[in-house]
Order: sequence, then structure tokens, then C-alpha cells
Amino acid sequence: MSWGLENRLSRIIRPETGRTVMLAVDHGYFLGPTSGLECPNSTCMPLAPYADTLMLTRGVLRNCIDSSVDTPIVLRVSGGNSVLEEDLSNETIITSVEECIRMNAAGMALSIFVGAPHQHQTIANLAKLVDEGERYGIPVLAVTAVGKDMVRDTRYIGLATRIAAEMGAHIVKTYYCDDFEEVVRTCPVPIVIAGGKKIPEREALELASNGVASGAVGVDMGRNIFQSDSPIGMIKAVRAIVHDDVSVDAAYDIYRSEKADSGAAAPSSGDLEDDRKV
Ligand code: R5P
Repeated sequence: MSWGLENRLSRIIRPETGRTVMLAVDHGYFLGPTSGLECPNSTCMPLAPYADTLMLTRGVLRNCIDSSVDTPIVLRVSGGNSVLEEDLSNETIITSVEECIRMNAAGMALSIFVGAPHQHQTIANLAKLVDEGERYGIPVLAVTAVGKDMVRDTRYIGLATRIAAEMGAHIVKTYYCDDFEEVVRTCPVPIVIAGGKKIPEREALELASNGVASGAVGVDMGRNIFQSDSPIGMIKAVRAIVHDDVSVDAAYDIYRSEKADSGAAAPSSGDLEDDRKV
């Protein structure tokens, strides 16, 4: 692994703890103006200081994020479809590695859709991106999107994460499932947990806690942070779990206390309908 690639990886997974809190705000790449992310600048800027990385598209980065932000950037580089399409797996590479370098990205993120109609294409996209990433010293985060008919279990998640690692991904993002230790055991690269649809705050903290207890190096979480009634409270609470190994109770107290201090508004609608099993 080149020095540059290792250096960028250490900006994503914090060397002090070997863990990471990635903030996923790339939803608009196929969902458009997602609830809570209608104006990415006002959502992301207050959260950026608490995130180890921001995961987003180049369009949002260029137009909505101040260039003085020093939170490392993981650029989503796959896409090309919209929620209006039944089959979302028909993705291609939408942002070149040169653009990632220009935008000073610490990493590149791409989805693979295992078990979906365009499985082959997306896995081949990943392999090509890894070649490019290795050439220029940029790590690749593979987002394992699972086909609509597939059950999120160790067999299936294990299949998707292992394929991502075999293609050369440096980090894999996937969904938590029962017996997640087995998924971690059979995937030779670090795994981060996706948050999924908005759920009550305490449950989202349990998810993060279970993920790291099972061996994940952290989270790449979006809606359960930015759709919370206290996004800063949630990201602080998630950080405490990921980096300080605090209990769910202690983390929930962090969330509640931040919410009380900031006089949080009513809960957001959380009306996002992302029914992909990703
Ligand atoms: C999935 O393809 C994208 O990377 C999403 O932005 C990400 O999975 C969403 O994170 P969350 O499920 O925590 O909102």
C-alpha cells in the first residue's frame, strides 16, 4: 500500500482509536432532495466538526460545503440512476479519479449491487475503481447494496462484503445483521455499518453499539443523524459509542442533554422512502 493511500486511510479511520464516524449525506444522488437534506449546507456545516468524514457527491461538495472545512471527504463516485427506476443497480462511475484528486478527497465510495440485475457491471466498476485508486493512492469504500429479494442475513451480507473485499475495496460499508461477528470474521478489510431508515434515536444508538461490539470499525450513518430532532446530539452520541466505547445508556444521555440544551425542534418527518435493501 502506498504512503499516500495509507495516509488517506488514516484520515478516514482515526489512528487514535482505529474507528470512524462517517457522515453519509450522499442520498440525493438518486433520491433528490431527501428529507433533512433539502439544503445540504445548513444540514452539513454544523455537523462537519463532529464527523470523521463527510460522504457526499461532488456537486454537493462544490456548491454546498465551504472549502475551508477540514473534515476529510469521501466522494461518492457511482450513480447514474434515480428512485423512479425499478432497478437501481444500473450504476456507472460518475466522477473521475482526477476530479477526486482535484477535490482533495480522502476516499472514493461506490456501490455494488449483489444479487441485482446489474450485479456484474457494478462489481466490475469496483474492480476498475480500485485499480485507479491504487494508482493514485486513494482508498475505495465499497457500499454493498443488496438485491431487493435478498434477505439481510450473514449468508447474504457475508457474500456481498467478501466480494467487495476480494475486488480490492479498502473499506466496506454494509448493513448490520444477526451474527454480524461472522460477517466481520470473513471480510478481510474494515467494515462500517450503514444506518438505514430513520428509527428512534435509542435504537439507532443500539445499532451502532452492536456494530462496533461485533467488530465493525464504525458507522457511515446518515438519516439517523440528520433526520433526528437533535442531529448534533445524535452525532455526539454516536461518536461516544464508536470512539469511547460508552454504553447505549450513556450515549442516549448525551443525545438527550444536547437536545435539551439546544431546545430541539419537533422531530423531522423522516419521510424518506428508500426501499432499496442496501
Ligand atoms: C447508499 O447507497 C448511500 O451511501 C446512502 O447514502 C447511505 O447508505 C445512507 O446512509 P443511511 O442509511 O445511514 O441514511
